[in-house]
Amino acid sequence: MLTNILRLLMARSIKPFVFENNFKYKLDIDVENLGLYFHIPFCRKICSFCPYYKIKFDRDILEEFYKALIKELYLVSGLADKKKEITSVYFGGGTPALMVDYLPDLMDTIKSLFIIKGNAGIELHPLDINEALLRRIKSCGFDMISIGIQSFQDKCIAALGREKIDSVSKLKAAKRVGFKAIDVDLIFGIPGQTMEDLMKDFEIAASLGATQISTYPFIYFSYTKLKERPPGKKLKKRMLESLLNISKKMGYERNSVWTFSKKNTPKYSSVTRDNYVGFGPSAASLLKEIFKINTFSVKEYIKCLDDNKIPTALGLKFNERTRALYWLFWSSYNLDISQKNFYRLFGKKLEDVFKLELYWGEKLKYIKRYKNGYGLSDKGAYIFHLVEQSYTHQYIDKTWKTALKNPWPKRIALY
Ligand SMILES: C[S@@+](CC[C@H](N)C(=O)[O-])C[C@H]1O[C@@H](n2cnc3c(N)ncnc32)[C@H](O)[C@@H]1O
Ligand code: SF4
Repeated sequence: MLTNILRLLMARSIKPFVFENNFKYKLDIDVENLGLYFHIPFCRKICSFCPYYKIKFDRDILEEFYKALIKELYLVSGLADKKKEITSVYFGGGTPALMVDYLPDLMDTIKSLFIIKGNAGIELHPLDINEALLRRIKSCGFDMISIGIQSFQDKCIAALGREKIDSVSKLKAAKRVGFKAIDVDLIFGIPGQTMEDLMKDFEIAASLGATQISTYPFIYFSYTKLKERPPGKKLKKRMLESLLNISKKMGYERNSVWTFSKKNTPKYSSVTRDNYVGFGPSAASLLKEIFKINTFSVKEYIKCLDDNKIPTALGLKFNERTRALYWLFWSSYNLDISQKNFYRLFGKKLEDVFKLELYWGEKLKYIKRYKNGYGLSDKGAYIFHLVEQSYTHQYIDKTWKTALKNPWPKRIALY
C-alpha cells in the first residue's frame, strides 16, 4: 500500500515497474563512477530469515562456478573500448569466504581487466573468521570487511536459528589483523530481543573497534520461518531512537538511515553507487538508465556462460523521471540529497525536477536545506526507514519468489 501511494505521488504514474525477459538494450559500461559487485551464492547452512539468493555449499560446483564468473568478467569488461576505472569492488553473498582458495586469482583477473581506484570490501560470516583467513583476504587486496554478527546475545542468535558462536573473539581477530573499515551487521527487532540486549550489542561492537555499525530492522519475509513472530512497529521505532542516542554517545556519526560510522573511516556500502555492474547469479547492474538482474539459478548461470552469453534474466529501462527517482531514493537512504551530484548525473537542477517533493519535504520537516543540497531530519529518516522496509519486503519478496521458481521469467511487474 505504502509503495503504491509513493509510486503514484513521486513517479506520477499508475503504471507498475516492469522487468522483462526479452531485454534487448545494449549494456554500456563506459560510465562514470562504476562499482563492481560479485555475488557468491553459497552458504554452509541456509538461514530462513535471509532474503538473498544462495544455495547450500557444494564443493563440486565451485570450479565450474569460478570459471563462469571469470568468463562473465571477460564478457563484461570487453564491452568497453579500453580498461575502465573502477571506484569500488564488493564481494557479497552468500558467503564469499567459501571460495577463499580462488580469491587471489579472481582478484588478479579483476586487476588485469579493470583499473581499481577505490576500496575493496568483502562480507564475512563470523563462523569462517580466524586470523589466517583474514590475513589471506587482506593479502588479496581487500581493505574493508563486513561481519554478519547480527547480535552478540546467545538467545538472539538462537531466535534467528543460528548456532552459538563466540563473535567477540572474531571481532578481536579482525581488529588485530587490521582493515581500513570493519563493519559489524546487527539486527534489531529479533523475536525476544530487549532494548537492553540491543544497547549491549552496540556497545560491544563499538568497544571492539568496529569502524561502522550497521543496524538493520528485522524484516519478516513470506518464507521466513521462526518459532516466534518479531515485535511490531512501535518497539522497532523506540529501538531506532535508542540507536541514534547510543551511537552519538559512543562517537559514531549516522551516515545512512541504518548505518553509523567513526569519523574519517571509509563507508562500507555495496548498494549506493552511481553505476555498478553485478557478477554472479541474481546480481543486479545499474548502468545509466538500464537496470538488469542476472538469472537466479547457479546451474543456468553456468550454462549461459558456457555459451558465452551474459546471463541477464530480467531488465528494465528507466525513463528520465524514474531514473532520477531511483537516485533520490538512495540519496535519501544516505541522508544526503546533493545538488551537485544530481547536476553531474542528470545535467539538470535538482529543484527543477523535484520542485514539489522538495517543497513538501521541507514544509513537513522531513528534509533540511544546507549549502549544497538537503539532508534528512531524524523525522525524515524515520519515514524513510518505514518506506525502505516496505519496499524491501514487497519488491524482494515478489522478485525473488518469481525468479526462484523460474530462472528465466517472462516478466515481473512490481506495483
Ligand atoms: C548477505 S547478508 C550476510 C552475510 C553473511 N553471509 C552472514 O551471514 O554473516 C547481509 C546482512 O543482511 C542482514 N539481513 C539478512 N536478513 C535480514 C532480515 N530478514 N532482516 C533484516 N536484516 C537482514 C544481516 O544483518 C546480514 O548480515
Ligand atoms: S544470513 Fe548469511 S549465512 Fe545465512 S543464508 Fe544469508 S547469506 Fe547465508
